[in-house]
Amino acid sequence: MHPPLLLPPRADDGAETFAEYRARGGYDGLLRLLRDGTPERLRAEIAAAGLRGRGGAAFPTARKWELAALAARDTKYVVGNGGEHEPGSSKDRHLVARHPHAVLEGLMLAGIVTGATKGWLYLIEDMVEPRRSAEQALRELDEQGLMHMPIAIHLGPPTYVAGEETAALAAIEGQPAKPRRKPPFPGEQGLFERPTTVNNVETLAHVAWIARHGAAAFAAIGTAESKGTLLFTLGDEVQRPGVYELPFGATYRELIERCGGGLRNGRAVRAVLPAMSCAFLPAAHLDVPIAYETLRPLGTSPGCGGVRIVDDATDVVALTLGIAEFFMREQCGQCPPCRMETNQFVHVLKAVQQGKGPGYQDKLQKLAEFARKKGFCSLIEMAAAPVLSAVQCFADDFARAAGPGAPAGS
Ligand SMILES: Cc1cc2nc3c(=O)[nH]c(=O)nc-3n(C[C@H](O)[C@H](O)[C@H](O)COP(=O)(O)O)c2cc1C
Ligand code: SF4
Repeated sequence: MHPPLLLPPRADDGAETFAEYRARGGYDGLLRLLRDGTPERLRAEIAAAGLRGRGGAAFPTARKWELAALAARDTKYVVGNGGEHEPGSSKDRHLVARHPHAVLEGLMLAGIVTGATKGWLYLIEDMVEPRRSAEQALRELDEQGLMHMPIAIHLGPPTYVAGEETAALAAIEGQPAKPRRKPPFPGEQGLFERPTTVNNVETLAHVAWIARHGAAAFAAIGTAESKGTLLFTLGDEVQRPGVYELPFGATYRELIERCGGGLRNGRAVRAVLPAMSCAFLPAAHLDVPIAYETLRPLGTSPGCGGVRIVDDATDVVALTLGIAEFFMREQCGQCPPCRMETNQFVHVLKAVQQGKGPGYQDKLQKLAEFARKKGFCSLIEMAAAPVLSAVQCFADDFARAAGPGAPAGS
């Protein structure tokens, strides 16, 4: 197993200091770029490394940068998105709290390559420790004269949609944190209508690593189409909950058993939900290497890595209803199809729970098909993925809960 790239073992739980980060080669990439003045070379390195965004959508980072780099505007911005608020995921807050310099170095590198004049680190109001670590790291950077561009910390509201990139930009502008219709994409017209590159904070920490070690070293880790490592969050279902880093190609069995120490209650794993906005993966696939290209044919993806585990005692109908209720609560209300879909999912799942008979599968499928691509943001599709996959993956449980329905003629 490859040693961790982003979460090296440390003696204490606090934030890595500038001196510690420098001692392991931190800021070498930034200093090299400032010395050589070859931003296009770094963009090519990021492309060759095969880095894809870790915010959930897995968009190729170098392609995103190109959009902003080519935009002919004097003022451009860059934003590090640490607005994590998906239940079950705490990898971004962990990363910023423990390794703020890696994120800030990546933010400055992204800024230089895209021609940004200012950067923001976007966090959420309740992130006390990450904010403290980032503020301390910014002070250290200033003292060292390494603040290549001004960087501000912005604290967004504690809602799920506030992490969506255009919602984050709206929050930074002082507007309500709600997604905006795309196009235009932020790389064309983002913050204050200027080209803006938004990258997840984990993506940015990988950028710093690649700038230091090179594309070849990064691309040597992982699988054919999924390069490097990924951060995962394990919850209370396992013996050792926490944030773990594994290379692509590792398996959910390894994650649960080797990292998490196995299930706390000693029960058998029935399925995993790779992240709340993804489809369930039945236990038969626990040994499939985790990669975009291997999970796609199974109808799911690694998402943001906030893994939930379903064991043989889990009430899967209640779990699915809870997820649907989360999306119903968190949708921002701007798009009628999203409001309708998320409300109706809850309505149909409650009917299943109350034993109101069959027909639910068809209804859920039609709702998802009707709503698909009709929202300003992809929450509308994210809400459907766990629900539709649950009724397939746990077909017997749903059929049992729904019961036969009212007898004919009654
Ligand atoms: C409802 C919703 C919530 C999101 N929350 C986050 C988040 O908390 N953090 C994040 O980086 N991306 C989040 N995203 C994805 C961002 O819109 C965007 O794709 C990402 O920040 C881009 O960074 P990346 O290319 O480095 O992955 C969310 C998307 C949606 C639709
Ligand atoms: S799709 Fe849903 S969450 Fe996204 S902007 Fe529309 S209403 Fe809001």
